[in-house]
Amino acid sequence: MINTFHSTLPPPPVPPRTGYAGSKPNSNSSLVKFLSVVLLLLMLLTFGGFFYLFSKTNTLQSNLSNHEDFAILKRLQECEDSTESKWLLNCKELVLKYKSVLDKVLQAEGTAAKIVGESSPETFAHLKAMPKQQSTPPLLNPPANTLLWDREHSVFENVDLSSTGTLTIRRPGTYYIFSQVTFSAQHARAPLRQFIMSKTKKKQEGEPLLKSYCSLSTSRGAGFPDLCTSSQAGVFKLEAGQQLYINVTDRDLVNTESSFFGLFML
Ligand SMILES: *[C@@H]1O[C@H](CO)[C@@H](O)[C@H](O)[C@H]1NC(C)=O
Ligand SMILES: *[C@@H]1O[C@H](CO)[C@@H](O)[C@H](O)[C@H]1NC(C)=O
Repeated sequence: MINTFHSTLPPPPVPPRTGYAGSKPNSNSSLVKFLSVVLLLLMLLTFGGFFYLFSKTNTLQSNLSNHEDFAILKRLQECEDSTESKWLLNCKELVLKYKSVLDKVLQAEGTAAKIVGESSPETFAHLKAMPKQQSTPPLLNPPANTLLWDREHSVFENVDLSSTGTLTIRRPGTYYIFSQVTFSAQHARAPLRQFIMSKTKKKQEGEPLLKSYCSLSTSRGAGFPDLCTSSQAGVFKLEAGQQLYINVTDRDLVNTESSFFGLFML
């Protein structure tokens, strides 16, 4: 190779190429042109190479997602084991990513569960009215128009039941609610009725969700047991902590054997 930098002589002529008629006065500028072309080619090659490699790694990355999952799990494990703050800083981004993915998965699972019809854990209640002889615990003294429930003969899951007759919702959601109350005696002034009442944190004053009434026949002779039954059911959105109870004309007028209250989550 000839060192053109330290030479006082003019640079040697470019070897003649086919189809190119170089002349001596032009030899310098033609060398620059040649080098520029070579440089341009090199740059194109470099960029092309980069693009090629980039797309190649991209396809490989998406293709080898299983391996990547494994690598991420391994990194998560390293994050869990590590106590160095430098490592933990590196972990932060990974954990955030993991969280957002987890949220997506949980959401997808939620919709899948809805499609399949799984709503776990089970939430339901079927409460039997408390028989009269036990119905007035002296210490609690619940209001005379609230029905009380017999724990022993009732079934319930994922709701709370108080001894003053209140059922409290744990899981928010849409519920089917039903009740039936049978009356065995007339009230002197008021109609015979049962309301499914609701109390929320916002509305501490109980308000009726459903109302139903019945009347005893007045024409029957003495000696016949006279009964009337009112039933009702409906679908409601309930929130966690919402309280439900049955308000009747008077608890003492109720035939407890055929009175019940229940619900289940849809
Ligand atoms: C990607 O994976 C599929 C099968 O999972 C395989 O058939 C294909 O050849 C792979 N492509 C590359 C570029 O590795
Ligand atoms: C039951 O209903 C009656 C009549 O609407 C009402 O006066 C009373 O306050 C209610 N009791 C409860 C505990 O909601």
